[in-house]
Amino acid sequence: MKRIYNDINLSKRNSFGVSECARQIVEFETAEDIATLFRESRPEKWYVLGAGNNTLFTKYYDGVIITPVSSSLTIIEESDDYVDVRVEAAHDWDELVAWSVERGLWGMENLSAIPSSVGAAPVQNIGAYGAEAKDVITAVEYFDTEDMCVRRLSNAECHFAYRESVFKQELRGRAIILAVEFRLKRAAQPNLGYGDVIKEVEARGEATPANIREAICAIRGRKLPDPKVLGNAGSFFKNPIVERAVAERLLEEYPAMPYYEVSGDAGSVKLAAGWLIDQTGLKGWRDGSVGVHNRQALVLVNYGGATGGDVINLARYVCERVEAKFGVKLSPEVNIL
Ligand code: EPU
Repeated sequence: MKRIYNDINLSKRNSFGVSECARQIVEFETAEDIATLFRESRPEKWYVLGAGNNTLFTKYYDGVIITPVSSSLTIIEESDDYVDVRVEAAHDWDELVAWSVERGLWGMENLSAIPSSVGAAPVQNIGAYGAEAKDVITAVEYFDTEDMCVRRLSNAECHFAYRESVFKQELRGRAIILAVEFRLKRAAQPNLGYGDVIKEVEARGEATPANIREAICAIRGRKLPDPKVLGNAGSFFKNPIVERAVAERLLEEYPAMPYYEVSGDAGSVKLAAGWLIDQTGLKGWRDGSVGVHNRQALVLVNYGGATGGDVINLARYVCERVEAKFGVKLSPEVNIL
């Protein structure tokens, strides 16, 4: 059954906590609910909103916000090596990670404590601490609003890349994700290469999924503001991918600059946007109701009462400062509406 709300305030439905309204919200349970919506009232302008952790509303949304509410988790297949699960879009991401870790399964532990819904995870291929959603996703089921049918894409067909997927490209404005399938492994596969992860895990004993989850939660808790306390959408910008020559030139001037190799692209290097912003002196900078977080410069925060426009103005200013100092353009990771 679908539920419809008209002229609704979105402040409780976005982690930035900005107070904008939408013409209509439709909550759906099944693919049939979406089919009915598109058959009966073919909305011209619509947007799928999951838990609202990666969307910034900057004005009245004169369209239909479509939100999944089904969240069942089903084990599809089990073997000595793996467990395959199908999880509906509205399931909380971190509850899924906790479920996997409690069973001693491997693959999701590094992705602990990311504020997200399951349906949003493949869209921007959420990632942290050397892991990405694409490493555990086997398939994505979605409703195709042009062909009016349910389709299923394999991992390869999702064209996953750093914070990218087919759902942000060819299928943008066309697909509504219904469920995601994951393969979790029984054999140990600790992934401890990123930053302080190994140190934090060793302080807790063996590299088990539970200890890795605890370690990651501790690291995140120290750096990233809890959106329930301070409005934010995690990293506001993507880490920029630049030509290797650009990175080499910057490294001559800033030898301590962090950078990462880009798998499958030897000519490019990924820079740390948080470091670039930090170097401009903006970390902890506040302008009225918005600011740059004081422990992770990649996160913009709403101290209370900010509008989406206030956040955008701050984001523009941050981009200008980074470009002026390093000649590097930042682009937002957050969806701006
Ligand atoms: N850094 C600074 N100052 C800062 C922030 C970072 O100098 O204020 C430096 C760090 O010292 C480190 C480097 O920049 O050398 C990278 O920082 P960090 O490890 O904190 O990660 P990040 O690249 O800033 C990315 C993801 C995060 C994810 C972390 C950990 C993106 C856009 N962000 O951030 O994801 O949690 O790695 O894996 O890729 C998110 O997407 O919302 C998110 C929080």
